[in-house]
Amino acid sequence: MALKDTRGNLLGTDSAPARDAAETALWRMMSFYDPPIDDLDRAVREDPHWALPHVMKAGFLLSLTEPSMRSEARGHLERAQVLLATAPARERMHHEATTRVLHGRWHDACALWDQWLLEHPRDALALLWAHLWDFYRGDAINLRARPARALPEWDEADPLYPHVLALHAFGLEENNLQVQAEEAGRRALALDPRSPWAIHAVAHVMEMQGRFDDGAAWLRQHQRQWAEGNGYACHLWWHLGLFRLEGLDDIGVLRLVDAHLAGDALQVTLQRVDAAAMLWRLHLLGVDVRERCAALVAQWGRVGAGPPQAGGSPSGGRERSEQGGNELDDSAGYYAFNDVHALLAMLAADDGARAEHWVARCAARALAANDAPHSNHAMARDVGAPLMRALMCFARGEHAAAAQALYAVRAKAQRFGGSHAQRDLVDQTLLAAAAAEPAARALGRAVLNERRSAKPVTPLTRRWADRLGVALA
Ligand SMILES: [Fe+2]
Repeated sequence: MALKDTRGNLLGTDSAPARDAAETALWRMMSFYDPPIDDLDRAVREDPHWALPHVMKAGFLLSLTEPSMRSEARGHLERAQVLLATAPARERMHHEATTRVLHGRWHDACALWDQWLLEHPRDALALLWAHLWDFYRGDAINLRARPARALPEWDEADPLYPHVLALHAFGLEENNLQVQAEEAGRRALALDPRSPWAIHAVAHVMEMQGRFDDGAAWLRQHQRQWAEGNGYACHLWWHLGLFRLEGLDDIGVLRLVDAHLAGDALQVTLQRVDAAAMLWRLHLLGVDVRERCAALVAQWGRVGAGPPQAGGSPSGGRERSEQGGNELDDSAGYYAFNDVHALLAMLAADDGARAEHWVARCAARALAANDAPHSNHAMARDVGAPLMRALMCFARGEHAAAAQALYAVRAKAQRFGGSHAQRDLVDQTLLAAAAAEPAARALGRAVLNERRSAKPVTPLTRRWADRLGVALA
């Protein structure tokens, strides 16, 4: 007789050990404590006829936004496909939604999860995956609203409840509901201290409020929960770096980068994105990061060649690109947000020729006519491509044009995903362009004023004011 999980969702297995292994995998996916692949393999061994573990493997790999993992994900979905005939409707739905993700139809996948959740609000897997792809495709409203629709239907004693509350906390923060976000994040952690997403949500609140000392102390306070054996460590080191940068501790940021955002610490593209984002901010402040960026770009091109490692690597099966050749080139046009960050690393490495080639390749692949059904097509058209052109202007020293182009793109930048904190690189680049070009000073001053009104004046804001010639009280 088919079993249910603890939240009442019907499962396509009658094996309790298989169910338990998949439940552990789901907890790992929500908490980032080790990749879920080993648990899902165990679930498959316990019940080779159960489709869901294969779907979960595919979704996990796709959630890393790593094009080199698509073929492996496709294989898992094909293995699930032959098992679907007797699977419950829920598992057929997850298979269909994950297949949509595989084909780049992220909006369509979220629409399917959304419909399902209206009737099944305690489907944690649907909540998690819809949240992740809401984040990637810049749907801030649903980052908050979708967990909000589901949470009252949950039992607070469920072990996954704190993790859903953490999703809600982050969604609140991305909707500028900072007080509620901090309260929800702290409540999630009171229920389960092992919830890095909740730690992260509160860190975002402190970032947006300019509380850089509070933020550093917060991450230090919870470091035991996120820094070791957790796939989210890299991103939380990045947040700690942001707090140091806000205090203008350049040396401290560089030390952090070398220890935690370089070399073997960077196993997947999302981690390299964080490294590039931090190095770019240092570059804007005049710190020489050329060698570090050149190393990062070189490493980016060798994705898939490194050995699998614990803590951040999803599986031992990372593959070379389907086309062969340079992995970075082959990833062009897959996800505009990642593409822009690769460009930042190239520009801060002072590798203009490579940057030109990269921009052209990303545009050609993302904006191809047959790519239109992909969610990334619109993200690249509306944000990725114009932002890349603006960054190229900036790198060429065309600061007036860069400032105007960045100003035009910042109003719609949320459409290519990421967080407010991540997209702040647009504003900081605009401030740097305006500081270098007297004709753009009024624009720089206006954007600086926005910054001043959002949070107390920090040492970093003071630095931008100095460079813009704006006197602060
Ligand atoms: Fe973040």
